[in-house]
Amino acid sequence: MAFDRVGVVGLGTMGAGIAEVFARAGIRVIGVEADAEALARGRGHLERSTGRAVDRGKLTAVEREEILGRVTLTTSRGDLREADLVVEAIPEVLEYKLALFGELDRICKPSAVLATNTSSLPVTALAAATGRASQVVGLHFFNPAPVMRLVEVVGTVVTAPTVLSDIGDLSANLGKRAIVVGDRAGFVVNRLLLPYLNHAAQLLELGVADRDGVDAAVKLGAGLPMGPFTLLDLIGLDTAYEIMGALFDETRSLRHAPSPLLRELVGAGLLGRKSGRGFYAPAEEPAKPGDKSDVATFAVQGSPSLAVRLAEAGFKESDDPDVVLHVGDRPVVEHAVRLARPERLVGVHLAEPVVELASTVLTSAEAALAARDLMTVIGLTPVACKDRAGFVLDALIFPYLNDAVRMYESGYASIDDIDTAMRLGCGYPHGPFETLESLGLARVRDGLRALYAEYREPAFAPAPLLDQLVTAGLTTFPRP
Ligand code: 3HC
Repeated sequence: MAFDRVGVVGLGTMGAGIAEVFARAGIRVIGVEADAEALARGRGHLERSTGRAVDRGKLTAVEREEILGRVTLTTSRGDLREADLVVEAIPEVLEYKLALFGELDRICKPSAVLATNTSSLPVTALAAATGRASQVVGLHFFNPAPVMRLVEVVGTVVTAPTVLSDIGDLSANLGKRAIVVGDRAGFVVNRLLLPYLNHAAQLLELGVADRDGVDAAVKLGAGLPMGPFTLLDLIGLDTAYEIMGALFDETRSLRHAPSPLLRELVGAGLLGRKSGRGFYAPAEEPAKPGDKSDVATFAVQGSPSLAVRLAEAGFKESDDPDVVLHVGDRPVVEHAVRLARPERLVGVHLAEPVVELASTVLTSAEAALAARDLMTVIGLTPVACKDRAGFVLDALIFPYLNDAVRMYESGYASIDDIDTAMRLGCGYPHGPFETLESLGLARVRDGLRALYAEYREPAFAPAPLLDQLVTAGLTTFPRP
């Protein structure tokens, strides 16, 4: 089926981005908003985004005019009667969407496909609100829509296979890779991404590390394009909270319980970029390092190479040091209590250029500062955290990897689709299975066991498949 004319209902950040994607691919777009004011905001999104592309030399002024010229903006839904496809991108309120799908079903020509960009509501319920359930799909884009190269095409039990393949072909024409999945809360990407973002908010609330430390650890230490709090601000805290709620409703797993901190920020109207402030305020200065220590001497447990680097930077190893750096197994406090001066011991986890520095309940403020300064001098980015399983990075990343294994085990998506989805949907350098294999399956399995032992969260228990592969001595996942 040819999709020559496409309607987009709702021109917020996502809807406007989606309209731009279609117009860039040469398709005529009918953009619909509720009233003139919302329409003007939608036009503003389109003009800014394409204007920015011209400033960066990605589009010529003429191409920009052509793109904008393909978009007709209207407040009348009746204008959608000629559309071959309508993509809905209105706020995530089921009753609004049900009403809209009923209306689109009446307005649109019988052959038209109706799609929803929902991230948290069941596509099946929207399909059932129409008399053309076999022509209703999810078409889920990622923020920013013009940039992220993935779409999730969501089929319900009644979607016609030809509709799924037509939408898959259309996605390719838009320059997007499509993965086709069933109608489960969160689909692939949000099911893996949002619990990790929510978990970051939980660690913040538990005081395991601060906002900037968590973001730095993830961005620099794991190489992801954004730290979790920066990304939450991009997605919108209200959207994140809604998705978590939908995941929890489906799974009843504590791993999916929305963080109370998210709820509080949403309640305060701090929704992220769209409201001007979320975890970050607009023109916030990066945190400045506080007091400097005058550390001179150190000892290192468990890493001769770290000792060499510190000595080369001019610090002295000593039997009675200002700070003892413990690299290795934890709980760190068990190593601290073996020392004459337990307050001087700090746990260290290197994820260069990040170094996580774990203070125990006994660590003195002076030793924590000394550890931070030593690491800064040798060119690392210190992230202070508590002595908790996985510190920050492994605590956030390992459960996400485990979730991916469980998803694959459940038969919902293939390893390749999951890896592709996370690379193209979130800009990750590697998919979760690629990451698991490069970190080492045994290391991740053991890290998950430690997390489970500490937090007793059932979702942290290693997925049976991961456990079995390690027991069998395998280092990669079986791929067909
Ligand atoms: N609109 C249009 N284009 C944009 C844009 C926007 N809002 N933001 C950035 N871009 C473009 C830039 O113009 C630039 O294009 P160019 O390379 O052709 O010049 C390119 O993106 C890179 O932008 P920048 O250099 O300004 O910034 P970064 O290198 O920091 O990249 C980013 C920005 C692409 C957003 C990157 O940080 C990233 O990939 N972040 C992860 C985003 C992510 O995870 N999205 C998915 C969220 S989940 C979701 O959306 C699902 C929903 O249901 C919740």
